Amino acid sequence: MFYCFEFLVSLSSTFIRYRSIKVGSRSICGQKSTMGGLQGLLLVLFLQGLLGSSHVQAINNRFLPDSFKIGVANAAPQIEGAWNEGGKGETIWDRFAMTRPEMIIDRSTPEVACDSYHRWREDLAIIKGLNSQFYRLSIAWSRILPTGYYNGSQSINQEGVRYYKTLLRALNALDIEPMVTLYHWDLPQQLQDDFGGWLSPKVADLFAEYARLCYELFGDEIRWWITINEPKQVCEAGYGVGVFAPGIFKPGEGNYICAKNVLLAHAKAYRIYDEEFRATNKGKVAMVIDTPWFEPGSQRPDDVAAAERARLFMYGLYGHPIYYGDWPEIVKDRVALRSYGEGLEVSRLPEFTPEEKELIKGTHDYLTINYYATHMANATGEAPFDRRSTYDDMNIIEWLNPAWPKGGPDWFSIWPMGLRKVLNWLKETYGDHEIVITENGLSDNTGDIQDPHRIQYIRDHLSACLDAIYEDNVRLVGYMAWSFMDDWEWTGGYGSRIGMYYVDYNSPNRTRTRKASALYFREVCKNRCLVANCV
Ligand code: BGC
Repeated sequence: MFYCFEFLVSLSSTFIRYRSIKVGSRSICGQKSTMGGLQGLLLVLFLQGLLGSSHVQAINNRFLPDSFKIGVANAAPQIEGAWNEGGKGETIWDRFAMTRPEMIIDRSTPEVACDSYHRWREDLAIIKGLNSQFYRLSIAWSRILPTGYYNGSQSINQEGVRYYKTLLRALNALDIEPMVTLYHWDLPQQLQDDFGGWLSPKVADLFAEYARLCYELFGDEIRWWITINEPKQVCEAGYGVGVFAPGIFKPGEGNYICAKNVLLAHAKAYRIYDEEFRATNKGKVAMVIDTPWFEPGSQRPDDVAAAERARLFMYGLYGHPIYYGDWPEIVKDRVALRSYGEGLEVSRLPEFTPEEKELIKGTHDYLTINYYATHMANATGEAPFDRRSTYDDMNIIEWLNPAWPKGGPDWFSIWPMGLRKVLNWLKETYGDHEIVITENGLSDNTGDIQDPHRIQYIRDHLSACLDAIYEDNVRLVGYMAWSFMDDWEWTGGYGSRIGMYYVDYNSPNRTRTRKASALYFREVCKNRCLVANCV
């Protein structure tokens, strides 16, 4: 039984996602090959014939609608580097990677990354060359406020402000719409040291002040704002199982406290925009939430319910408070049941006060989803009550369908239909809102410049988007590919390759080399069509 538990835990979405940190012996650097533009194009044409016939999914041959914007995404801590340059303060990920190297698969750090802090012009040229309509980027809190605290104008790092201002102006001049994330996991370390970071409600007020400052400084350049990226990873991986920065191990407890504080931070930042900036800047604000799609292993009612429970623990934990003002009922029931079962008098899931519910409810201007993979889920028996974890609260068994192809990381199980299903689920669960896919892309460990598997991944997932739009009437208005170039993949280090451009981390100028997928993506953005002839 215990062995079984270990196995299941390692397959939970949070665990499975970061299990790679334990696979120290895996080869993480593949053979780099080179391919010219013509060769790449021929490959694309070849693939259009070959994959089109061999692949199970029929590729949708409709045009991308005019209302559908396509672009690329990345985030400051993964590409900027310059970790202590230009007045930037230390973040929890700088500290985590530098002091706990065993947690990062290749023991790397984000100190230099792709050096985008110095090479951003080159990056904008790449993004423009891809015919991208959007660029989703993030502002590093510690570049604007090095300690995280705002204490009047002297606490602002003007060099950081200049950096983002110049970058945003250049983007707009290129006619690429910026979509800006205020928090992509990079908490200023000082806030962790002073009061425990996301475990304290103090962080919500400080985040709100930082958000207001960014709206003031950059509001005229930005229409699409994202408060916080992937709260599930921030909380479950960072303050639950502790495999992400800041590495706090409080499963089934820290993650829920963090979740509440993250929601308060988001809501406060949303309200500030709504009340003080929307009339002038006319932008939209949302939180970015991620989940795999959970497909039931059978149509038995308890397996179908288990898969839905997983969706509600993963997406609903954040989506429900934002859309309905409270945690999903099943999440409240399950955590309460297991809390009482272990002898506690109150649930480990904190409650919202009526004022907090009011504050959080309705803080959305569009629906978001970061989607990469689909996992299987079934019902399982109740775990012993002296075992405490989100996974036991959720009470499912989770695994990867062996029939589906996989990406590099262990959790990366590829099933494009899962994207179509999750889009439909969002519509059914939260109503008919505009949806933006804020991340989607293929991670591999090869670094190959010839990457037909990435072309196939992008094409099949965009095809699923078109099915959702044309067949299911889902109001999908945007798609951000992650990513235009390789990056520092957190605990996956530099060996996990997820870009349409290869980055040579051994070269002093971090040379970027185009992969075949970049050519395909460029053509899709230009022709707004996935195959040779669209109708
Ligand atoms: C994160 C990105 C990351 C991507 C691929 C998402 O969870 O938002 O920062 O690079 O997954 O691993």
